[in-house]
Amino acid sequence: MKRSIISGSLVLLLFCFLQLTHAQSGSGPGSASIVIHADMGKEVISRHIYGHFSEHLGHCIYGGYWVGEESGIPNTRGIRNDIVEALRKTAIPNLRWPGGCFADEYHWMDGIGPRDQRPKMVNTHWGGVTEDNSFGTHEFLDLCEQMNTEPYICGNVGSGSVEEMSKWVEYINFDGISPMADLRRANGREEPWNVKYWGVGNENWGCGGHMSAEFYADQFRRYATYCRNYGDNRLLKIAGGANSTDYSWTETLMKNIPHSLMFGISLHYYTTDWSNKGSATEFGEDEYFDILDRCLKIEDALDRHMTIMDRYDPEKRVALIVDEWGTWHQVEPGTNPGFLFQQNTLRDAMVAALSLNYFNERCERIKMANIAQTVNVLQALIFTEEEKMLLTPTYHVFKMYKVHHDALLLPVVLESPDYEYNGMALPMISASASRSADGIIHISIVNIDPHQDNQLAIDVRGADVSSVTGRILTAEKINSLNTFEDPDRVRLAEFKDLSFARGMLQVTMPAKSIVVLEIE
Ligand code: AHR
Repeated sequence: MKRSIISGSLVLLLFCFLQLTHAQSGSGPGSASIVIHADMGKEVISRHIYGHFSEHLGHCIYGGYWVGEESGIPNTRGIRNDIVEALRKTAIPNLRWPGGCFADEYHWMDGIGPRDQRPKMVNTHWGGVTEDNSFGTHEFLDLCEQMNTEPYICGNVGSGSVEEMSKWVEYINFDGISPMADLRRANGREEPWNVKYWGVGNENWGCGGHMSAEFYADQFRRYATYCRNYGDNRLLKIAGGANSTDYSWTETLMKNIPHSLMFGISLHYYTTDWSNKGSATEFGEDEYFDILDRCLKIEDALDRHMTIMDRYDPEKRVALIVDEWGTWHQVEPGTNPGFLFQQNTLRDAMVAALSLNYFNERCERIKMANIAQTVNVLQALIFTEEEKMLLTPTYHVFKMYKVHHDALLLPVVLESPDYEYNGMALPMISASASRSADGIIHISIVNIDPHQDNQLAIDVRGADVSSVTGRILTAEKINSLNTFEDPDRVRLAEFKDLSFARGMLQVTMPAKSIVVLEIE
């Protein structure tokens, strides 16, 4: 166990109101230690790591964000007010749209102009339903403006053309006189939107055209060339990256695409056993351990993709963009299998909290990540049912963790015992610390052990500490969840189990809990 002293006698004075009941900081099975080097931060955690993904899939857009202007559900220009308000509370930094697999069959011109004249199409990927295109470019960018979030648009490479993508960029971003800018004005929008984040295709190794990496890299070069910068706006182009551990895809893109042409390369990683997806709610410790083990393995995958990137780009000019991540369970019984609707439990919240800690730690290379998918699909933050709206355990993680947005990552030295199960082991504790512009230190801590509390000793070095407060997310069971009948079973609460002893902050991390501490 590491020993250290928090500087300043002020500490003792100001902590005198705290109990001294958790003075043990030994290294037994239920104890861990963290040293935070508060004066040694170098990299900023981009707020875009806390980004989102929303696709034309199931009830994410239709029946989710979009209810239409005529709806009795309170809305602004057809977009639900309660969702906008809830996501604003998480300070949602960006939103990726329109897919996913849908992006590579989406033709943007079908989604502009008077809604009743927009052509319909079949959403072949997701349930074979008819898409009436009533939610298109203007509606999406209106949603982003209402939420005060950066749009991240994914263009169609699989079934589109260079011309189509190039015209979409012109339509959205050109300020002068041109066919596309004039069309935008005719459709009611005078000013360009100055969209920055631009995806050039999605999963082009699979649903986006089943291309080889070499072929896609060449396509990227063509498409990216004609997606122009207009005015002062710099388009940050993102190449469609690898599926989880496909390292050769990343290597080929890094080798074959001039780095000046791209802002980043994406990566998709779901914590799923594709041959045997489990239930989102009916699971025991076997499945709990398995999903967390899969979640933990993203660390290795990230590090291996980044090692390849380092080889070609030691200065880290090309970002890694984890633009789809999260849990993917079986759909809820009785729901359309093509709609990917799954419930969300404390286990999902654990996956979110761990993943965000891992992304923070790698913020030198990871500049954006997007959980799949904000509303009613996969690891959603929000469920809707007619006029009702529900916040999931995952929502609460994003709300707690927003303190890390654009904060300075602080080095953390963590010693954790293991969470042991059936002869297997995972580190019990995960932690990530940052310092915000106003000097406040935040540390997000996860105890994944479903049975054991952890006595955690935190040593903050290089900063004077005067007060500590915290919030906690936990629940009775690993599969506890929120429902429309019982919407607050898993909710945030004030965290009080902290004290100060032996020069260190002593925290009792309850079993299966997520805590964010605020240290001033
Ligand atoms: O998020 C659901 C789907 O998962 C996306 O459309 C696709 O990109 C990925 O395979």
